Amino acid sequence: MFDSIAPRYDFMNRLLTLGMDIGWRRKAVDALEVAAGSVVLDIACGTGDFCRELESRQLTAVGLDVSWGMLRAARTRAPLIQADGLRLPVRDGGALGVTCGFALRNVTDIEELFAEFARVLLPGGRVAVLEVSEPESPVLRAGHSIYFRKVVPLIGGLLSDRRAYRYLPESTAYLPATADLLQLIGRAGFDCVERTPLGLGAAQLITATRRHPPPR
Ligand SMILES: C[S@@+](CC[C@H](N)C(=O)[O-])C[C@H]1O[C@@H](n2cnc3c(N)ncnc32)[C@H](O)[C@@H]1O
Repeated sequence: MFDSIAPRYDFMNRLLTLGMDIGWRRKAVDALEVAAGSVVLDIACGTGDFCRELESRQLTAVGLDVSWGMLRAARTRAPLIQADGLRLPVRDGGALGVTCGFALRNVTDIEELFAEFARVLLPGGRVAVLEVSEPESPVLRAGHSIYFRKVVPLIGGLLSDRRAYRYLPESTAYLPATADLLQLIGRAGFDCVERTPLGLGAAQLITATRRHPPPR
């Protein structure tokens, strides 16, 4: 599915988020708080938006994604690797940061994904994850529901792949409730798990710090 939408992915992203996704990625990289030069893995890197933001901050970005189509369409100078986020070809503690944009809904086990992030991060390393969300206020939630469930599939169907943009709102069903999501991140090996709503609640930024192992 991602292979098929890759050629128009960036255009559709800018259009459907009204350009807000650019600022969301900036905020996510701000929240990483890792030193310049650090290795940051961008998991499910898609067309490389996060990689470009990371490189503009003098971080050493490496993009990984399972879709050849997305990697082929990527516009970044960062090295790119075709890999499943659940089985990263990276040694234990090989990175100081992990970013991941809008991909939690695509993996079969979100806790396993965070456990894999924890494995490849050094203790004290940071993760910053963006994902779609729903506003808390009932009024905003109603407006968001019409936009996300009706307008997005309609525009997606007209300008890109109808099936893929129908899947986008449907895939939110795979996201656990917020409290459960934050808890599973803790269980996977992270402390300081924080969530910040973005775009009036239409998106969320989740950050966490890789826990240090207990002293022997
Ligand atoms: C909605 S796109 C997000 C792309 C990019 N992170 C962004 O912020 O625009 C989701 C991406 O997740 C990738 N993906 C889905 N399942 C994956 C997996 N198991 N491992 C790695 N990448 C995966 C898809 O190929 C796609 O590029």
